[in-house]
Amino acid sequence: MKYIVTGGAGFVGSNLVKLLVNQGHDVTVIDNLHTGKKENLDSVNKKIQFKNIDIRDYELLEKNLKNINGVFHQAALTVVQDSFNKPKEYHDVNVVGTENIFKLAHKNNFKVVYASSSSVYGHKNNIPIKETESRDPINPYGQTKLDDEYLVKKYSKMGVKIIGLRYFNIFGKGQTLEYAGVITKFLDRIKQNKAPIIFGDGSQIRDFIFVEDIAVANLLSMESKIENLLVNIGSGKPITILELANIMIKFSKLKLKPIFKSSLDGDIQKSQADITLANENFNWKPKKMVTEWLEETLKI
Ligand SMILES: NC(=O)c1ccc[n+]([C@@H]2O[C@H](COP(=O)([O-])OP(=O)(O)OC[C@H]3O[C@@H](n4cnc5c(N)ncnc54)[C@H](O)[C@@H]3O)[C@@H](O)[C@H]2O)c1
Repeated sequence: MKYIVTGGAGFVGSNLVKLLVNQGHDVTVIDNLHTGKKENLDSVNKKIQFKNIDIRDYELLEKNLKNINGVFHQAALTVVQDSFNKPKEYHDVNVVGTENIFKLAHKNNFKVVYASSSSVYGHKNNIPIKETESRDPINPYGQTKLDDEYLVKKYSKMGVKIIGLRYFNIFGKGQTLEYAGVITKFLDRIKQNKAPIIFGDGSQIRDFIFVEDIAVANLLSMESKIENLLVNIGSGKPITILELANIMIKFSKLKLKPIFKSSLDGDIQKSQADITLANENFNWKPKKMVTEWLEETLKI
């Protein structure tokens, strides 16, 4: 099949591109290299096409998003704290850019699988979180992902096939350190023989999902007969940040104790996905759990 991956030079996108290439698909990456890096695609760069395009540029997209089977839309600005300082830029890339893709899917009749986020939920007391929970994002980044879901409703009614995957916290190789999640940050500290820094008391619950499992969820959604769905993609398994830090210290065999700092504004207390819907619709299940991956990674 002929697929486009927007944000294909980023963390999720590059892992997805590798899966698609391995499965024999024809892949074109669209990325403006804002945070993405061409090196992330080194192992496949002879087998793909790369186009430096900004998803805000409708005309350029229009020239490229035709005669294709589908778009995996991963491109976005993704840093929660940054989104407070640049709400307009976040809206332009994450909402206007996403609508550009949806408009072209309507015009040129291709399916879209795109990256939504668990941040659409905001604070929730009932975990695991089901897709039917109310959506109350607590930062501009989460709001952009919710605005995208409103667009999904609009374009789905117009007959466009769109699947939105609400990713929970992703881990794996290739996350850019400056923008990385807690696991990459803890790993970076431990590799320097320094204790992980926990913001708050570490009781925050998270659901970590392996980037390669995310890639598989994308492909299964694209290949599925299901045309419209917003669905959680997480491990379904909760772990606290303190447990995470202690497990990492244990696997590293270093004598460290986590350092506690005051909690971050707007940090979510509980995040855990109910993944029944993804399993039922796409026959998808995560394969690698975070503890297993950490043990392998910290052993080396
Ligand atoms: N990493 C996570 O834990 C997580 C969780 C939930 C949702 N998501 C979503 O998954 C997607 C991928 O995230 P990621 O972690 O790989 O982030 P990333 O920053 O590694 O990748 C995003 C990619 O989009 C590109 N990009 C940014 N603005 C662009 C623009 N205007 N035009 C073209 N390309 C542009 C960047 O250069 C980068 O390659 C994003 O939509 C993000 O919101 C990620």
